[in-house]
Amino acid sequence: MSTNVSKSVTKVAPENGADKSSACKVALIGFGTVGRAVAKILCESGNQSLQLTHICNRNIARKKQEWVPAGVVWTEDVDSVLDSDVAIVIELIGGINPAEQIVRRALESGKSVVTANKQLIARHGPDLLQLAASNGVQLEFGASVAGGVPVLPALRAGLSGDRLHGIAGILNGTCNYILSRIESARIPFSEALEEAQARGYAEADASEDLDGGDARAKLAILALAGLHTQLTPESVRARTIRAVDAVDFDYAAQLGCTIRQISRADLNGDTLFAEVGPCLVPSDSAFGRVQRNLNLVLTSGQYGGDMAFLGAGAGGDPTAVAVVSDVMFVAAALSGGRREIASQVLRPIVSSDFETAWYLRFFVRDQPGIVARLAQILAAHHLNIDSLLQKPGFEKNSLPFVITLEPCRDSMLHPALEEMSGLEFATRPCLCLPILR
Ligand SMILES: NC(=O)c1ccc[n+]([C@@H]2O[C@H](COP(=O)([O-])OP(=O)(O)OC[C@H]3O[C@@H](n4cnc5c(N)ncnc54)[C@H](OP(=O)(O)O)[C@@H]3O)[C@@H](O)[C@H]2O)c1
Repeated sequence: MSTNVSKSVTKVAPENGADKSSACKVALIGFGTVGRAVAKILCESGNQSLQLTHICNRNIARKKQEWVPAGVVWTEDVDSVLDSDVAIVIELIGGINPAEQIVRRALESGKSVVTANKQLIARHGPDLLQLAASNGVQLEFGASVAGGVPVLPALRAGLSGDRLHGIAGILNGTCNYILSRIESARIPFSEALEEAQARGYAEADASEDLDGGDARAKLAILALAGLHTQLTPESVRARTIRAVDAVDFDYAAQLGCTIRQISRADLNGDTLFAEVGPCLVPSDSAFGRVQRNLNLVLTSGQYGGDMAFLGAGAGGDPTAVAVVSDVMFVAAALSGGRREIASQVLRPIVSSDFETAWYLRFFVRDQPGIVARLAQILAAHHLNIDSLLQKPGFEKNSLPFVITLEPCRDSMLHPALEEMSGLEFATRPCLCLPILR
């Protein structure tokens, strides 16, 4: 299959500034936000062990920068890059097609690959890692989760001596920005979303972020790297943050909590409990303190206990640092003949049936007997009420109140929620959030 974008090569020159005859040759495919930042670091760092030889992008003419050394080839022709003698290909075009074919062809032709492409790794990571191993080369993807936060290198190297059983994180900066803005300003969800879009933290169509698609792809990669489990992003249940209202932060505060989009995976034997969605977390916890668009990942290991990784989850420069660090790691491995130790990958049963306490928020048209009716349904399903919260001052025709439940499995709660969904006094669907303590 040809991955040829076009056959025009706009500049070819044999040398790249300083004498780097023994340097590891590196090609960059994709000169956008991250690609440009990677090129800057490679060109400015003075690192003699790496030599940027090609920059490849569609419609390359408009991409050229005067700060790139004259010897670097600017091209639209992916084939010419893959046919060259570069040792490392950096894939930064994103998406599945044609990134997947480019990465496969690079690995098959004996080149190591560094990518920041979460969609590609979440869907094809195990397969591509195997392809890399069978061709005696490396595939690194440290920037694909949490941007500049070095959590993937930590999972694959620094924590590989532990037996990890749990990973939880705030993996989507857009959701965290929106939720922390609703929290601090008590503005409606729609206003917080508009603000995030105006500041460039959310795309015009932010569904992938808001509905959990982005975070569950990242969770699948973390589970692969840290828990050695192979799962598709689609097998992880994702709940949207769209239903979270400013009043939920008032009620959460009464419980000593706030609300964050949490991605979590717990391995128990052959079952991987995994889920992404808004959760109540204690305000003074590590998750509760994460503001704006930062990312946080917590890991739990059998021997090393808990670890935390916090920082900028996106942005050209922080992400480029992670990419260049991967390139340096691969270059060192190539010169030292070092190989990654392959670990066995489990194909787990993926379940979202966590046992937690629950927050149920109702909006109802006020009438006698509402609490008694809800309590009756919960009791019939053997669910225990922990507390009942009702703030004064709301209109009687759409009154928000909250019931919290003692810990129970999701599968026990679900039938009760189904039964409640048809109640005539409800003016909005019940919002049901796990409470993580
Ligand atoms: N930005 C971040 O903060 C961040 C954080 C973590 C991970 N990542 C990942 O890093 C990767 C790059 O992201 P980015 O933000 O740099 O994206 P971007 O700004 O959209 O850059 C992508 C570049 O690739 C080029 N391109 C796209 N399709 C191509 C094709 N078929 N052939 C040749 N060139 C092509 C684009 O050209 P045009 O200019 O013509 O569109 C653009 O220059 C993605 O996988 C992304 O998920 C990004």
